Amino acid sequence: MNKYTLIIWLYFTIFFIDSAPITSKSNSISLKKITTKLLLKEGLQFYKDHHMLKYQSIFVTDQARLISAKKRSENLTRSNVIGYYGEITVGNQAFRTLFDLGSSDLWIPSQNCTQHPCSIHRRFNERLSKTFRPINISYSVKYGAGSVYGTLGQDNVLVGEIESVGQIFGLAWKEEGSFFETQEFDGIFGMGFNNLSSIKTPTTFSNMVEQKAVKDPCFGIYLERSDDAGHRGSLTLGGIDKTKFTGNLNYNNVSKFNGNYSVWIIDVDDISINGHKLNFKTKKAIFDTGNDLILMPDKDAKIYHKFINGSSFNNGTYFVPCRTTDLVAYIIGGISYNIDQSDLVTGSYCYSSVQPAGDGDTWTFGDPFLRNVYSVYNIKNYSIGLAPVSKTA
Ligand SMILES: *[C@@H]1O[C@H](CO)[C@@H](O)[C@H](O)[C@H]1NC(C)=O
Ligand SMILES: *[C@@H]1O[C@H](CO)[C@@H](O)[C@H](O)[C@H]1NC(C)=O
Ligand SMILES: *[C@@H]1O[C@H](CO)[C@@H](O)[C@H](O)[C@H]1NC(C)=O
Ligand SMILES: *[C@@H]1O[C@H](CO)[C@@H](O)[C@H](O)[C@H]1NC(C)=O
Ligand SMILES: *[C@@H]1O[C@H](CO)[C@@H](O)[C@H](O)[C@H]1NC(C)=O
Ligand SMILES: *[C@@H]1O[C@H](CO)[C@@H](O)[C@H](O)[C@H]1NC(C)=O
Ligand SMILES: *[C@@H]1O[C@H](CO)[C@@H](O)[C@H](O)[C@H]1NC(C)=O
Ligand SMILES: *[C@@H]1O[C@H](CO)[C@@H](O)[C@H](O)[C@H]1NC(C)=O
Ligand SMILES: *[C@@H]1O[C@H](CO)[C@@H](O)[C@H](O)[C@H]1NC(C)=O
Repeated sequence: MNKYTLIIWLYFTIFFIDSAPITSKSNSISLKKITTKLLLKEGLQFYKDHHMLKYQSIFVTDQARLISAKKRSENLTRSNVIGYYGEITVGNQAFRTLFDLGSSDLWIPSQNCTQHPCSIHRRFNERLSKTFRPINISYSVKYGAGSVYGTLGQDNVLVGEIESVGQIFGLAWKEEGSFFETQEFDGIFGMGFNNLSSIKTPTTFSNMVEQKAVKDPCFGIYLERSDDAGHRGSLTLGGIDKTKFTGNLNYNNVSKFNGNYSVWIIDVDDISINGHKLNFKTKKAIFDTGNDLILMPDKDAKIYHKFINGSSFNNGTYFVPCRTTDLVAYIIGGISYNIDQSDLVTGSYCYSSVQPAGDGDTWTFGDPFLRNVYSVYNIKNYSIGLAPVSKTA
């Protein structure tokens, strides 16, 4: 190859890279659902246990249930993790992270985390990033059925084309637990409030806001409903994607826990089934993309299923007819959000998408709720905006 063919070749390479179809806007990235399916009874139990362990510091009061959840999760070898992940760049290296509304730390595996399950993931090589700075402080973070240990570091983090300069994050030397057994994500990108951070450092998104890298202090989440194989979504930082919903966003105030904002939780007025209001009061729901269920304490799940035609209960699990035709709507801030009938059922055995777990008056809205709305999370005025998803999006 002579000099000219090389130049022409380079020109075409650059030209073709540049003209590659742009699949997402610069402040939007696509999210992909982890493909693990909820096939086994063990899987359903995993969600309930993982959920209880994840939110134990916030609302779980039943210590006996917590201990048995911990024991069961230790015994699992293959996890049934559900969540949405996307690509980020740390320094000059690409990672896939789970975008988690229910935690507030960013961490990725370190190059020197050589043991399983780190060994099945991409790992950060400090020496290859000129912008990296080590911070000699150790950390550990618990995620329900998993824990990570390591030290802190500082580098520039890119999501789409939005940058957090000098972001402090965790570099894991050790991962434990079935939660990390999937190959689909390397680390976790926490999107809760700063007060929930285990490593006590501002979240990547809050730094983007402080550094004025984004226009508005909010991010929008859209989860696509399609075949199991193609579950996708999108995350828009610093704005909203108006093509994904119909009508207006209705904003709801986030509640504090122990005087601090921590998880994304709002009041829920009631549920209506076939036009009949169930008369729930004083309920709250945590928004969690990492859950394939809607979870409610036993007493609430029981009331809900009384109104679902043909539902049954067996050994802690609710089942519904596979093609249930009931019209379910969640009423929030005076607005009804209809649930698509396909979201009333989950898994291969026609499990109900509403299952019992949790304490008090706290529910968790996982994907069967979130797929029906476009949701916007505002970290400055502590609100969640909701609108029904656009059917044509
Ligand atoms: C966990 O596994 C051990 C050994 O296989 C078994 O003895 C124990 O009963 C299991 N614990 C639970 C909670 O299933
Ligand atoms: C990882 O590297 C750090 C120094 O950067 C070292 O202190 C630590 O012991 C290493 N961990 C392992 C598991 O090798
Ligand atoms: C990191 O901190 C530990 C304990 O505080 C100390 O023993 C060690 O020497 C420090 N390492 C470096 C490279 O500064
Ligand atoms: C939501 O919060 C705002 C600002 O704190 C307050 O003005 C408003 O009354 C609250 N709305 C509701 C429904 O509580
Ligand atoms: C709120 O968070 C701060 C620091 O993160 C903590 O010191 C304080 O105790 C928390 N407040 C309550 C009431 O828990
Ligand atoms: C946690 O919340 C408290 C009280 O709302 C606030 O004073 C403090 O700055 C918060 N801490 C962080 C790390 O955001
Ligand atoms: C309940 O389901 C059965 C069987 O699908 C159907 O015949 C019946 O009309 C349904 N009842 C109501 C109240 O929808
Ligand atoms: C009931 O559920 C528990 C926990 O999921 C399981 O260990 C047990 O085997 C189940 N019993 C039956 C009869 O299915
Ligand atoms: C929060 O900000 C949005 C615009 O970003 C606004 O529409 C909404 O009313 C605000 N909510 C509160 C509670 O202030």
